[in-house]
Amino acid sequence: MPDEATPGGLETLPQLNKYARDLALIYQSEKEKRKALELAHERLREAYEETINRLVIASEYRDRETGNHIVRIARYSAFMAQKLGRPGEEVEKIRLASPMHDVGKIGIPDAILLKPGKLTGEEFEIIKTHTLIGAKILGGSTSEVLQTASEIALTHHEKWNGRGYPGGFAGNDIPLGGRIVAVADVFDALISNRPYKEAFSVARAIEIIRSERGGHFDPELVDLFLDNLNGIVEIRDRESKLTHEKGPDASPS
Ligand SMILES: [Fe+2]
Repeated sequence: MPDEATPGGLETLPQLNKYARDLALIYQSEKEKRKALELAHERLREAYEETINRLVIASEYRDRETGNHIVRIARYSAFMAQKLGRPGEEVEKIRLASPMHDVGKIGIPDAILLKPGKLTGEEFEIIKTHTLIGAKILGGSTSEVLQTASEIALTHHEKWNGRGYPGGFAGNDIPLGGRIVAVADVFDALISNRPYKEAFSVARAIEIIRSERGGHFDPELVDLFLDNLNGIVEIRDRESKLTHEKGPDASPS
């Protein structure tokens, strides 16, 4: 269609300059909008992550786990998922979801959760329900992170050989997040101080993890853990500086 300003549809130089200026303004304004949106998204992500961490701190408040424990579980778990070659999105989901594995402890009575001595069979049955309670608290959400968290809460005490709880699932029937957190949680419990035991050395903890290859733990994950010990120990060293851990039980419940 011919341009109105000049016969034959040819724009004049001032017109072209005006278009260029308008385009530059639109571009600039879109750029600013995108930047503001990115910033808002980042703030939302930070608030989301902090909310998760505070939820976890609230649930672990009674048995005095530390923030360091939560951070370490997240780091070990994400590290293993990444070394396994899982996509970045899944690694991030596991990183955010793994610290919530024990939120169900909020539903366990103090007399059992904080009992200093050995638990009776009946008490242990009650402790086991923290998996179901956690899955229920976190379940039914449209958020993929919370869906992963619910799955991990439910399955982090399942064992590769089918002798875990609450479902007695075995092998790959246990979701990857649950299998990963099982290794991370046990390792962290072993190398942490408890009221009635000193922390095991990393070497002793590794020995125990190795001895449960194909028993408690997914053999592929144990191999991965052993092949990447430097990274694991680095996380332990970096995230343990302020640790003053205390808990009712040496084994993660
Ligand atoms: Fe647990």
